[in-house]
Parts: sequence; structure tokens; C-alpha cells
Amino acid sequence: MAGGLTLQDVSLRFGGVTVLQDVGFAVEPGQILGLVGPNGAGKTSLFNCISGHYRPTSGRVLIDGAEVQGARPATLAKHGLARTFQHPALQLRATVLENVLLGAHTRLPGGALEWAFRTPRTRRAERELRAEALALLERNGLGWAAHLPADELSHGLHKGVELCRALLMRPSLLLLDEPAAGLSHGEVEQLITTVRRLRTDDDITVVVVEHHMGLIAALTDRVVVLDHGAKLMEGTAAEAQSDPRVIEAYIGKDAAADDAA
Ligand SMILES: Nc1ncnc2c1ncn2[C@@H]1O[C@H](COP(=O)(O)OP(=O)(O)O)[C@@H](O)[C@H]1O
Ligand SMILES: [Mg+2]
Repeated sequence: MAGGLTLQDVSLRFGGVTVLQDVGFAVEPGQILGLVGPNGAGKTSLFNCISGHYRPTSGRVLIDGAEVQGARPATLAKHGLARTFQHPALQLRATVLENVLLGAHTRLPGGALEWAFRTPRTRRAERELRAEALALLERNGLGWAAHLPADELSHGLHKGVELCRALLMRPSLLLLDEPAAGLSHGEVEQLITTVRRLRTDDDITVVVVEHHMGLIAALTDRVVVLDHGAKLMEGTAAEAQSDPRVIEAYIGKDAAADDAA
């Protein structure tokens, strides 16, 4: 089974600013790992280091044992990696279906030249991708919206569209950055069911950044807590929630914000 992820001593610095300091953990294939921590802890930056949007200053990122730190997102897609973003950036004038298809050309056979000439093989593959994208939208309750411009959908539904886009890459490893932010209670319940199915039906390994502790507790096998760019602890969601260091990290953040106010 694919989708294993290992981080070893990942550090990230921008000039004099240390964003990540020697972060290490492993996710076994088929696991759901929660990545939590106060705002500014470095969670999104860590995702960026895994997904090729940032190159770690030092340390190693391995997917199924292959070193991938510094690789480009397109290369990482070939290793089975897909992600969603904290702030989905859809093409608002394009339809929902077109948005789901964005980026999926990497799954077409051949290369850029063949795609440009739209050979019969390319066109057949495009039709198959479209059908698959529609099926994904249906499965996620968005079939009705497939041909609407994306800007007619709510923020919560944009997150669903983005998830479909990531799933069309047929990932074995999926990174979700705050998928529940801005969702209604009912939408969060639906999301929990969806992510559970990704594991049981599709064998997808999931790393999820989320502040919604109900979702983290319901979904994850383990959590890693980040604070100030470093790993504070690793354990079950229940262990994290009762760990004095974790409580301190969150409260300290509030106190610091109060001081600044
Ligand atoms: N490109 C960048 N240049 C400088 N600082 C950055 C950059 N990206 C992230 N940071 C800094 O890294 C820290 C962690 O940010 P982020 O990873 O977004 O945290 P989180 O997702 O946990 O809220 C913040 O202080 C942020 O300003
Ligand atoms: Mg973030």
C-alpha cells in the first residue's frame, strides 16, 4: 500500500526568520494524521515543504521511501501527492467542472506536444477525465453545480470543489489544510464522513491541518502538535487535548495577543 510519508529534521528559514525547526514524524500508509497548533505555528509552511511549494532549508521529506524534498509539485503528483489549500483559489468565472479538471492534464497520456495536437488518444483520455470529474462531484454532493460558474457557490462549497480537484489526481497521500474552516455544522459532519471514506474505500493516507477539535478527534489516528515551528508533542487527539504543554501553547498565544492589544 502506498501513501507513506516521513519527515526528518525539516527546517525552513527565510532570511533570519526560522519558520520550522527540525520537524520529524512519520505517517504510515492508510493512517489519518492530524497536524494542529496555534495560528502561525508553521502548519501551512510544513505542508508547503511537503508539496514542493517551499524547499526546506534542511532536512528530508520521503514519500514511500523516496526522497522528494525540493521536488516540484508536478513531480510530487507522480509520487501520489495531492493537497488542498487553506484559502482555495478557484477560477471564479470557470465552471465548477472546469475547476476540478485544472491540473489533471498531468494524468493524460503522452506529453505537452501530444496534448497540444489533441490526438484521438488525448481526446479519449480527456473524455474519461471529465466523466471521472463529474462522478467525483456527484459523490461529494456537488453534481448539481458542475456547470455553474464557481463564483455562484458558497465558500463551503468551494472547499468541496477543491477536494474533488485534489481527488481527481488519484492521490495515495492527501494533505488537507483547514478543510472545515468556514463550514457549517452539517457540512463538517459531511466532511468527516467523506474523509473516512477516503481511507476505507480509496486507501488514501491523509494529513489534515484543522482547528476543529471535534473533527480531529473523530478522524485521526494520531496528532502532531506544532508550536513556534517545532514539534511540541505527538500522540492521540485525547492525549494532545489534555497535554499541559499543548494547553499552554494555545493559552500563551491568547495571552500574547492580549498583551499586544
Ligand atoms: N514566504 C514566507 N516568508 C516569510 N515568512 C513566512 C513565509 N511563509 C510563512 N512565513 C511565516 O511562517 C510562520 C508560520 O506561518 P504558517 O505556516 O502560515 O502558520 P500556520 O499555518 O500554522 O498558521 C508565520 O510567522 C509566517 O509569517
Ligand atoms: Mg495555515
